[in-house]
Amino acid sequence: MAKIQAVKGTRDLYPELFRPIRRIFDAWRRASELHGFEEFESPTLEYLDLYREKSGDELVGQLYRLTDAGGRELALRPEMTPSLARMVAAKINALAKPIKWFCIPKLFRGENVQRGRLREFFQWNVDVIGSDSPVADAEVILVGIEALRNLGLTAEHISVHISNRRLIAAILSAAKIDGGEQAGAYALLDKAGKMKSDELATKWNEKFGERLSLDQLREWMEAETIGQLADGVRRKLTMTDELEAATQQTSDVMSALSAFGVGDFCKLDLKIVRGLAYYTGPVFEFFDKSQNERAICGGGRYDDLLGKFGKQQEPAVGFGMGDVVLSLLLEENGLLAEANMSLMVFVADAVEGLRDEVQRVVAGLRRAGVQAEFNYAPQALGKQLKQADKRGATAVVILGDETRERGACQVKLLASGNSTEVTIESLLANPRAAIPFG
Ligand code: HAM
Repeated sequence: MAKIQAVKGTRDLYPELFRPIRRIFDAWRRASELHGFEEFESPTLEYLDLYREKSGDELVGQLYRLTDAGGRELALRPEMTPSLARMVAAKINALAKPIKWFCIPKLFRGENVQRGRLREFFQWNVDVIGSDSPVADAEVILVGIEALRNLGLTAEHISVHISNRRLIAAILSAAKIDGGEQAGAYALLDKAGKMKSDELATKWNEKFGERLSLDQLREWMEAETIGQLADGVRRKLTMTDELEAATQQTSDVMSALSAFGVGDFCKLDLKIVRGLAYYTGPVFEFFDKSQNERAICGGGRYDDLLGKFGKQQEPAVGFGMGDVVLSLLLEENGLLAEANMSLMVFVADAVEGLRDEVQRVVAGLRRAGVQAEFNYAPQALGKQLKQADKRGATAVVILGDETRERGACQVKLLASGNSTEVTIESLLANPRAAIPFG
């Protein structure tokens, strides 16, 4: 039979590969909890319609679909936001607002497998529901930055590119490119990077050129500050109330980020469009400074999504950060290397007849919070010591004649080779005093 391998785009995460990902999870969880977010989970399987209606065409094209025995059309979750919106909408009146939740789901997308893009990956989600304050937008960005900082990344390594869909929409509307036409304009802008520039210009100018030239729009999208953008727009277009409001909202998010002390990580970049359908306001992506890799993280405000599940509209903002690009970035910067998990104590027996005592000591140490290991089968002491060394143990507890005679054992530190005798009673009562772990 042909050897069956892991499915393309999935990973067999052996412990040594999973270890650095666990470190990432720890940083994600710690940052979430420090900022007051609570963890939740949702089902891996959802009705296909959830994504048909909420996510947008690109993601729906990548869905892993299945039909269950009852003929129901299901999909493996490709993102968390529709599930979150469904769950929150179902209990909206019972939940204290703002709702601050996070999760670390495994997601599935049938994408082209490439550097930074797999078909199964982990994605940290952080969302605030029930607040339209720009401080909420800034706070979710802050949590993301703090987790990365905790992993050793600084403003020298990463930057957060911030845009506002509402602002682009207001500019297009002020140029008389309205409602229905705007989706076509976004689609073109989103493809800008993948299209030849003359091809894009031809397509744009055919449809919208008379109202707003592509060159003009591009010049505005290059603006580095919101003031620079507003001045430029004011010179060419009549400022509408919506345009003023969207400009103010963008500027408020930037100010709130500065107040949190992370302004140096963040910059205005109106070229960020975001592929998902539900964003309504500020949107952002985290990149490595050199932009060699794909986005580490993406998110934004989605004030209309909750209303589509229930009667009540609730403003919301959040992001998803995957483990794949982040791992690449940590590796490139030498921040992924970590010592192997080292064992604290190995319990060995030097004479026959002490197997039960070995198990009793191992269980006692573990109960006292010390990681302890032993051999299932009897073995010569030399072999046990070798095994302890191989496992990276700090100390070996050796049970021998002194155990039988006076209830004591030898504690041998592997680094120095020094041994001391302690009673088993005192070892189990306070292992950290009896074993100088260093
Ligand atoms: P997204 O931009 O589709 O947003 O994904 C966010 C992040 O997930 C990406 O920046 C990337 O790090 C990671 N990611 C996405 N696809 C893949 C893949 N195929 N392989 C590896 N990593 C991947 C969303 O999913 C939104 N639901 C985020 C959100 C939450 N918006 C508001 N709340």
